Amino acid sequence: MLQWRTYARVMALPAPNPDRTCLVTGASSGIGEEIAGQLAGRGLGVTLVARSEAKLQALAEQLATRHGVRAEVIVADLTDETSRNRIAEVIDDRGLQVNVLVNNAGFSTMGPVSRSDPAAEVAMVRTDVEAVAHLCSIFLPGMVERRSGAVLNVASTAAFQPLPGQAGYGACKAFVLSYSHALRGELRSTGVTVTVLCPGPVETGFAKAAGISDAEAAEAMPRFMWVPAGAVAKAGVDGMDANRAVVIPGMANRVSAAAGWLSPRSVLVPMVAKRHPSLHKWAAVRAAPAGCPRLSSLRAPLRRLRFALCNA
Ligand SMILES: NC(=O)c1ccc[n+]([C@@H]2O[C@H](COP(=O)([O-])OP(=O)(O)OC[C@H]3O[C@@H](n4cnc5c(N)ncnc54)[C@H](OP(=O)(O)O)[C@@H]3O)[C@@H](O)[C@H]2O)c1
Repeated sequence: MLQWRTYARVMALPAPNPDRTCLVTGASSGIGEEIAGQLAGRGLGVTLVARSEAKLQALAEQLATRHGVRAEVIVADLTDETSRNRIAEVIDDRGLQVNVLVNNAGFSTMGPVSRSDPAAEVAMVRTDVEAVAHLCSIFLPGMVERRSGAVLNVASTAAFQPLPGQAGYGACKAFVLSYSHALRGELRSTGVTVTVLCPGPVETGFAKAAGISDAEAAEAMPRFMWVPAGAVAKAGVDGMDANRAVVIPGMANRVSAAAGWLSPRSVLVPMVAKRHPSLHKWAAVRAAPAGCPRLSSLRAPLRRLRFALCNA
């Protein structure tokens, strides 16, 4: 009991220190950019990681000027193991220690697996799963040795249920949720905390990267479920600082996650498959293959033929 109290009272974010840094992946846009802003706003140095160098440089300059913190950039493609190993080398070369690790970078493919691009599916698993596990295993030993550190892994409400139409993405985020819970259990009493942030829909570059329009994304999810990226980032950083296990921004998303978690799969999965916009597209294509008339368009001529035969 005493041990549990000690664990629960840990405040995860470190005091500002010139040789400490918060490593944020996927900081070039959306939720990651906002998380970096939240951390810099608390006086903490940030190391921004993604592929878009110009966007990262612009953000680093803005954060350093606005908050007077050290902000620098590491350009890395997280699908690539060598590129991920290089992040650790650059951190060492700069004489820094990672005190806060935010595994935020991620994207989703869309549509049925039977029509997917194999390379895109593999790139998603490498970014959303492999990179999270790799960076945790690189930076956790140092945190545990120093008895201080915090990890914030970004999953999704998609983690709480299978997601036909985004099957791989839902499974990737279920990995992040399960992995974060397990890490938290392992790190009890080490001074290192683990929090998993599970947003519902957020207006960012995410939909476009997945190949769906803003209008399609807005139609798929009711307006009351959308939470702005800034509010999601603040909830995540506050939750990490308060050593919370799971943060789901927005009441509607908490209810939806609980329903997804508890519903029998035999009921839930067909319902989700019926509603997912990317499956609607393919269902329409299947129903009307090129050169084949749809059944509805044959109804009128068939009726005329029956009438003609009956009256012949
Ligand atoms: N938006 C939503 O509705 C939503 C909901 C739930 C969970 N999430 C999760 O939130 C996280 C952030 O997404 P977001 O909504 O902020 O989308 P976003 O605006 O598209 O940001 C994605 C970030 O990930 C980076 N990234 C993607 N692939 C990468 C790679 N191979 N190597 C390095 N960086 C890579 C991108 O940077 P570069 O392109 O510059 O590399 C970008 O900074 C993701 O894990 C996503 O799954 C989003």
